[in-house]
Amino acid sequence: MNKYYVSTPIYYVNDVPHIGHAYTTLAADVLARYNKQLGKDVFFLTGTDEHGAKVAQAAKDAGKEPKEYADSVVSGFQDAWKLLNIDFDHFIRTTDPRHEKIASEVLQKIFDNGYIYEGEYEGLYCEGCEKFLTEADLVDGKCPLHPNKEPVQQKEKNYFFKLSEFQSWLIEIFEKDEVKILPESRKNEVLGKLKLGLQDISVSRAEVSWGIPVPWDNSQTIYVWVEALLNYHTATKFLEGKEKFWPADLHLVGKDILWFHTIIWCALLKAAGIELPKQVFAHGFFTVNGQKMSKSLGNVISPKELVDRYGVDGARYLLLSAFPFGDDGDFSFEKLDTKFNAELANNLGNLVSRVAKLCETGNVDIGPQQPNSQHHLPFTEKHIQNLEFDSVLQLATGYVDQVNKQIDETKPWENIESKHHVLIELVDTLRQIAYEIRPFVPETAEKIQNQFKGPKIKSGEPLFPRLQRFARSQ
Ligand code: MSP
Repeated sequence: MNKYYVSTPIYYVNDVPHIGHAYTTLAADVLARYNKQLGKDVFFLTGTDEHGAKVAQAAKDAGKEPKEYADSVVSGFQDAWKLLNIDFDHFIRTTDPRHEKIASEVLQKIFDNGYIYEGEYEGLYCEGCEKFLTEADLVDGKCPLHPNKEPVQQKEKNYFFKLSEFQSWLIEIFEKDEVKILPESRKNEVLGKLKLGLQDISVSRAEVSWGIPVPWDNSQTIYVWVEALLNYHTATKFLEGKEKFWPADLHLVGKDILWFHTIIWCALLKAAGIELPKQVFAHGFFTVNGQKMSKSLGNVISPKELVDRYGVDGARYLLLSAFPFGDDGDFSFEKLDTKFNAELANNLGNLVSRVAKLCETGNVDIGPQQPNSQHHLPFTEKHIQNLEFDSVLQLATGYVDQVNKQIDETKPWENIESKHHVLIELVDTLRQIAYEIRPFVPETAEKIQNQFKGPKIKSGEPLFPRLQRFARSQ
């Protein structure tokens, strides 16, 4: 019970990091920090997905060898996570020979257990999704997620995994929450589709040379999704002392890849005799100014752009407070600016600076931090457990607002010498707030905690300087 393992998807290296990737990674970081604060032994895994046709093509376009190309993109992801103050424990790369070895052994095990057979695949392949499409998937003959990419007709010898044999078992584990799919609405979607039937899937590629060789047939490589899904497990095997973290407590994914992370992954694990994960949570997708983020539209927002405008904690706060984590949503600089000024500059920032100023003017001696301000309030715990990040921040902001109003009403600056008890209480309240929001805005929380350490308190720089020039909607 005292350990906690959380993971993010491993991101394709054909793309530079954007705030879509940051969204999931940040959520995992908040959960990791929160659980560390509770005193748990935490393992937070993120990384990159580096094999497959899509990455090979991107490398070719860049005039590089796939590994050389991957190396250049990976550092961009690592820099972005550093910039956002994301404190992962390990960054897995699927080109790590330790991952390659274990993934290959797991596939061999599935083969030895009789779940893989040789066959021929003929069908349309979407390189964008790295998967075969069925007729039902097509919209106007194209992949709905990659309408600019023509699906390619492919016919090749492949090894197939007997996924269809797992249908009733999968229905049972998800209905009984042996592996929890969250939110509930997504679980129902997965179960609905699952009950329509399952087809065997191909787990190897004859035409894709950029991958891990199939252990019993070197003319084929392992299908990129199969080895990618295994990363969450391989990391715990090849990193020293991490084996105890398996099975993981929570896998965070976007709703786009939930099917892979439930149906295909759980069946593969079962076939290999590996223990199943506890929970998979699929969050929603967001648009920017109502449009899908895409290179062709030129509206892709990088983590750096957000940090440059709002600071690290501003960016972290805004990403997770904008809308409920399980839902779809929309970002625009206009909305973010408004939120930044209202909730961070005018509300929290203002409360901190006015309490500090009052303490300084009143020359109050503030006692040490009370131990009771080192526990989360019950509402925070409940919302974090349900991944309702926006609710935690909304409640904290509401609380800050209330305290600001209370100060307006009680006017502690009048006759301040007789108001020491009021100021001491205000400082305690601020310490509590800092503790509540620390997983979200770690640097800000630390600044508040340092500023109000006592005994003598001084006013300081504003935590969140107001934005003077507002972004306009396009
Ligand atoms: N490589 C696979 C995952 C393999 S995991 C074993 C992949 N990579 S990806 O680079 O395309 O990243 C997809 C993930 O990025 C989504 O599941 C989601 O977590 C995140 N997001 C990408 N765009 C997003 C939005 N517009 N909104 C929210 N999340 C987004 O799929």
